[in-house]
Amino acid sequence: MKLKVDYNNMMKSSIGSKGIDDGFFADSAKAIDDAREKVNSSRGKGWQEWCESPYISKSELDDILSYGEQVRSKADSYVVLGIGGSALGAIAVNNALLHLRHNELPSDKRKAPKIYVEDNVDPERMNALFDVIDMKTAYFNVITKSGETSETLSQFLIIYDALKKAVGAKEAKEHIAVTTTIGKGTLYDVAVKEGFKIFGVGKGVGGRFSVLSPVGLVPFAVLGIDVKGLLKGAASASDSALEKDVKKNPALLSAALLVESMKMGCNINVMMPYADSLRYMSDFYCQLWAESLGKAVDNDGKTVNVGQTPAKSLGVTDQHSQVQLYTEGPFDKVVTFLAVEKYRNKCVISDLKEIDACDFLKGNTMNTLISAEFEATRYALMKANRLNFTVVLEEVNAETVGELLGYFMYQTAFAGAMLNIDTFNQPGVEEGKKATFAMLGRKGYEAKLAEVKAAPHTDKYVCGK
Ligand code: PA5
Repeated sequence: MKLKVDYNNMMKSSIGSKGIDDGFFADSAKAIDDAREKVNSSRGKGWQEWCESPYISKSELDDILSYGEQVRSKADSYVVLGIGGSALGAIAVNNALLHLRHNELPSDKRKAPKIYVEDNVDPERMNALFDVIDMKTAYFNVITKSGETSETLSQFLIIYDALKKAVGAKEAKEHIAVTTTIGKGTLYDVAVKEGFKIFGVGKGVGGRFSVLSPVGLVPFAVLGIDVKGLLKGAASASDSALEKDVKKNPALLSAALLVESMKMGCNINVMMPYADSLRYMSDFYCQLWAESLGKAVDNDGKTVNVGQTPAKSLGVTDQHSQVQLYTEGPFDKVVTFLAVEKYRNKCVISDLKEIDACDFLKGNTMNTLISAEFEATRYALMKANRLNFTVVLEEVNAETVGELLGYFMYQTAFAGAMLNIDTFNQPGVEEGKKATFAMLGRKGYEAKLAEVKAAPHTDKYVCGK
């Protein structure tokens, strides 16, 4: 285990009466242990198939890696079509492990194709994509677990049509791979009929828990990301999550503290990485935390309307935007900092002789500066008695990123178990998907359309022209 959780600033000893008492762990020992047991005893079963992702079979991994190598050798652009859990993991990991200006690097310095993850159906964005990719050298991965998502299916139709026009019907098939549930859904049927390469998502791997399944691994393989390192890190998180002693189990520990913070009125969980490479980890985390824990009813059918609203923030950028609110606004937030001990390279602040006024900066490094600013912000929050804890990564690399992803997923599963809710469903999301089908006139959704049309709405409450 490389990842470390520093939770000093969650405790009374650091932040006074607004903090958590030292006796919390003893008082909550049974609830914490029950949650640990519930999650760990379901590993690999039902919707916890994601727990097995780090242990993918050699043959499946070899297939993914050799496909990745093959596409990498001929693609100039690689485009992922997907949304939610079928996109956010790829965005987070690509940004963490590729060069921070990957797409802008000249091709002789870029060891992999440019990457575009298209997770919206904004017409302007779609058309803009066509302005920057050459269909002849662009390869696509259509990712949808359900195989039914309107956004992804519409993107697929546009792309397949454009590909056929650009390279001909036969070659177009070679440019598309599909990642979906085998044997189920519209996209699977289309893929079989058209003869696309298909990668399978396990039936019990939900979208937001799928980053280490082929959903993420295929794009990572194409981009030359160290897939084995990622899986090794995730396996390490998986081992730590087995630890019975909560003080040695970071995911269990932070789940317990965050659930306690909810009970203390902290309805907001801010994710604040101090590294640009980790900025999209916040989006990944926000989906995981929001969709998994935001639930109307508990497992006993009781209305609970629980959840904690995740918010994203970037250190140091948002020190100059949001930190004022975090330190002085309502006591309704708990901040999770992501800190990096060692940045992958160094940037020295120039010692310009003719400029005296900036002596305190000259000769320093940006590394020292960003670390000092993180410490300073953490200190300011502590001084203002605000709950916060820090997840420390030695460095951003495939192993630590894999471990972080695993840690986030176990933390979420443990928190869901503590809240006695179904962590793995998303009825709120499904409702919107069904209403979209209805509004677009999909067969079988006539009753839903009538329901949507009957929703109360009056011009009386519309302001403006
Ligand atoms: O986590 C989830 O289940 C969702 O956010 C899905 O990932 C998202 O709705 C996309 O679904 P699909 O992969 O079926 O297209």
